[in-house]
Amino acid sequence: MVKNWKASMPSSYEKIAYQAPSNIAFVKYWGKHGRQLPMNPSLSMTLSKCISKCEISYSLQEKKKGIISFLFEGKENILFQKRLQSYLDGIEDIYPLASELTLKIQSENTFPHSAGIASSASAMAAFSSCLAKIEERQKTLLTASQRSANDFKRRSSVLARLASGSACRSIYGQYALWGKTKWNEGSDEYASPFTEIHHDFLKLCDSVLIVSSGVKEISSSLGHSMMNTHLYKEVREHQAHENMRMIVAAMKRGDYKTFGEILESEALTLQALMMTSFPSFLLLAPNSIRLIELIKSYRKSTDNPVYFTVDAGPNIHLIYPKKIKKEVVNFITRELLPFCETVIHDEIGVGAREL
Ligand code: PMV
Repeated sequence: MVKNWKASMPSSYEKIAYQAPSNIAFVKYWGKHGRQLPMNPSLSMTLSKCISKCEISYSLQEKKKGIISFLFEGKENILFQKRLQSYLDGIEDIYPLASELTLKIQSENTFPHSAGIASSASAMAAFSSCLAKIEERQKTLLTASQRSANDFKRRSSVLARLASGSACRSIYGQYALWGKTKWNEGSDEYASPFTEIHHDFLKLCDSVLIVSSGVKEISSSLGHSMMNTHLYKEVREHQAHENMRMIVAAMKRGDYKTFGEILESEALTLQALMMTSFPSFLLLAPNSIRLIELIKSYRKSTDNPVYFTVDAGPNIHLIYPKKIKKEVVNFITRELLPFCETVIHDEIGVGAREL
């Protein structure tokens, strides 16, 4: 319940701006239930260059409530505006300011919109951080239970999750865990940072090999929903919990080999779940397979710890330690680039931050 908000209303529009990065999942979240709760736990690395920025001018005094303008990369975007408005309408019960605010939003990505990289995680993490900050500025208005419930990042993560599941992990830098695991760590409601890692994992790179920047045939929402009746649902849940346990342990002890094996198994499991959904679908392209083969043979011939992962799309993420970056970038340019539209050389990053 919001108490007496009129007493501290700002006299005019105030501003808030946040940026948030995209993230790449090592253990994949696939399938959800209830209110954007994950079917299984996941672990991701936060990126550094693939960033969304969100600037909001807001007022609590205007008669007309809701989002009154939305500019994406300087241009009005009614589709995004409607999507954000329906998100706000849907969170009124947990974010009461949603029905009190008048918002003018400007958003932009630092990576090409059409690069084939999911921008919803970064965009929604940036937007949700702004919402959490607006709330924090009004915090004298919140009840004690709302105030004490969570710290700021946790609150941002909850709001981000409700906007787009994987966005809840983009709030944190380095690595984030999301979802309750069988050994009782973690929460389904929000992500948390995973910090107990071996120093070898502090500097990882992600070269995103863009095989196709076209719009996906099947949205991830539709893909998630197909898990509800998936024949392998229980087995997948079990596997994800086991993979979480093993990858966390591998990252703690600095074991690249086990880490890489789980990374690739998760990537291909996700594709296998899509192929065995009903109706079935396939998002990999011929060049995705070609890249996977080339990566494997490069690893075999050089012994370099270079592993791939793939999300719901044809683009391949090449994960490797920064200390071999020069060598790997040479390999990419020489052998992989001919099969890609482009490549974005990104690396581990710091999470959402105020601008
Ligand atoms: O957050 P969503 O609903 O776009 O789902 C993302 C799902 C994957 O990217 C395939 C996996 C993940 O954990 O990020």
